[in-house]
Amino acid sequence: MSVFKLAFPKINLSGVGSIDALIERLTAEHAGDKGLLICDPTLVELGFANKLMESELELTLFKDVRPNPDTNTVNQALAMYQKSDARYIIGFGGGSSIDTAKAIRILSANPAPIANYNGVEKVSKLGAPLYAINTTAGTAAEVTSNAVITDTATHVKHVIISDKIIPDISVNDPSVMLGIPSATTAATGIDALTHALESYVSVGAHKLTDYISLEAISTIAQSLPQAVDDGSDINSREIMAYGQFIAGLSFNSAGLGMVHAMAHPAGAHKDLPHGVCNAILLPIVSEFNRPYRVEKFAQVAKALGVDTSDMDSEQASVAAIDALNALNRRVGIPRGFAELGVSEEDILAWVDDALADPCAGGNPAPMTREQVIELYHKAL
Ligand SMILES: [Fe+2]
Repeated sequence: MSVFKLAFPKINLSGVGSIDALIERLTAEHAGDKGLLICDPTLVELGFANKLMESELELTLFKDVRPNPDTNTVNQALAMYQKSDARYIIGFGGGSSIDTAKAIRILSANPAPIANYNGVEKVSKLGAPLYAINTTAGTAAEVTSNAVITDTATHVKHVIISDKIIPDISVNDPSVMLGIPSATTAATGIDALTHALESYVSVGAHKLTDYISLEAISTIAQSLPQAVDDGSDINSREIMAYGQFIAGLSFNSAGLGMVHAMAHPAGAHKDLPHGVCNAILLPIVSEFNRPYRVEKFAQVAKALGVDTSDMDSEQASVAAIDALNALNRRVGIPRGFAELGVSEEDILAWVDDALADPCAGGNPAPMTREQVIELYHKAL
């Protein structure tokens, strides 16, 4: 028996004004309850948290989330959750804030430390209600059952995968995405493309996710350059928000692969941005995977905008890899990890973590230790 599970939030609000719609809902549903709002300092400085803090919701603010959130941050946020007597959690931001909020949801009903929940479906009790407002396009953390928390002591990334951390309501309001710098837009956009592509070629892919993945690849490839060039263009922001959202729907059910498995240690050991690590690895890992999914990579080429009418499947699949490299160049992704200060010694320290990462199992073909080392070298 082969069971396919489609899992995503019960309610998804999208479009300009969807944050106001969430506030209206929560004001009615949580009257008299206190809540914890989890975000990062930049969102507060930009004034984006004001709408929530000045609403009728009784919120305590935790604003100390940093990129690649760690166990220290989770412990601090948990202390505030308990002290404030909160009954629900709002994660507001990119993957870092929403992943921290997911960790607090777990610890609101299950014993600490958060490291106990590393792996697949290790969470027993459903925690406090969780609402996720996404500000990047992006990680799709507002949609998924994943949270990645770095262990401050060991530098290992705990990849927590559980249906019990899927937010109750996800919100994608492009009006809070307008101020994102172009480099972050590019990196998070290629992260979303990686979600779409890895889920499309994953061993867990399904007819339904195939359809969604290709739509996501096409949507992101068409709108990302414009969102990078002109961050104030609400139209391309809205289209990117849609593309990353549906890529999240797809990978949450079909899984990921070695791009993410190899990117996670890079983020954990060197504190490098998740999207940049994925972007560097995506064409390299795809080149490795291509012979195992020739027909699918030929479809990826089309979705990326390549005219494949005069090509056979083999040629079109190769053209997909070229198109991924071209898109990286177009949106200004660094050419390799060396540009980010990574050394050969560093990448050798990532290999075991990459092979042990829960995402590795979704790759279309397993990789040996030697192959992982070889691909890391190519990515340097
Ligand atoms: Fe990702």
